[in-house]
Amino acid sequence: MVMVSATEMIKKAHEGHYAIGAFNTNNLEWTKSILAAAEQAKAPVMIQASEGAAKYMGGYKVVADMVRNLHDSMGITVPVALHLDHGTYEGAKACIEAGFTSVMFDGSHFDFEENMAKSKEIIELAHAKGVSVECEVGGIGGTEDGVTSNGELADPKECAAVANLGVDFLAAGIGNIHGKYPENWAGLNFERLDEINKAVNGKPIVLHGGSGIPFDQVSKAISMGVSKINVNTELQLVFADATRKYIEAGKDIEGKGYDPRKLLKPGADAITAKTVELIKAFGSDNKA
Ligand code: 13P
Repeated sequence: MVMVSATEMIKKAHEGHYAIGAFNTNNLEWTKSILAAAEQAKAPVMIQASEGAAKYMGGYKVVADMVRNLHDSMGITVPVALHLDHGTYEGAKACIEAGFTSVMFDGSHFDFEENMAKSKEIIELAHAKGVSVECEVGGIGGTEDGVTSNGELADPKECAAVANLGVDFLAAGIGNIHGKYPENWAGLNFERLDEINKAVNGKPIVLHGGSGIPFDQVSKAISMGVSKINVNTELQLVFADATRKYIEAGKDIEGKGYDPRKLLKPGADAITAKTVELIKAFGSDNKA
């Protein structure tokens, strides 16, 4: 099966009241592990790369070619979309050209009029090539310079305006944040999610910062219109944890335990296991 845009899988998830996991990749091991997990769980999946991760891997074309080639050589049969996460205006355009099947244009730091104008332009460019588009309203909180901001709350009227531009799915802040959630996090704001869901009139909503949200809150959010859940930090944590254990157990100095194919395996297996667990929590297993 060839790689697909995310439009159809997200639409089906929205109608079927489950969510597609959108997992951030950082390198070859990450990509293989996420693909293996999706195949194991028989789940449609989105693999996404931030602009920073794409730069780290050698550029958008490298990412697109790597994901597509692994997808083909692993004989993946479930629907897979390759998505740009938090794209700039220039980045989104470049990824449409480089072979991504889906892009996010994050214009949330522009004033609203400019965000609308640029979102409209990216939607037109992307749709002309069969590429799906996510836009963002209002910003998502997170940790910067060690200071964790409270999750932001998007304005339902602004969400409705962007939904009406013809975007395929919409990221809106509902108290969620990127990175680890602080002890005193207030949780998702379901009142605001309800207002946004009513305002966007059936447009699928994206939940960023999907690492570490209690599963009961995840399920409730899905029942209220969330159809794509982004996860990055949680896979990084399980990878680091498994790698640390391998080294602390002295396995890297036993025989050829220093061989990267051995050294990185526990972390890669941990990513696969965590991805399968999350796919099941999002309800997208056996939906391929
Ligand atoms: P986490 O790193 O908190 O899982 O957030 C991922 C995300 O939302 C990427 O856009």
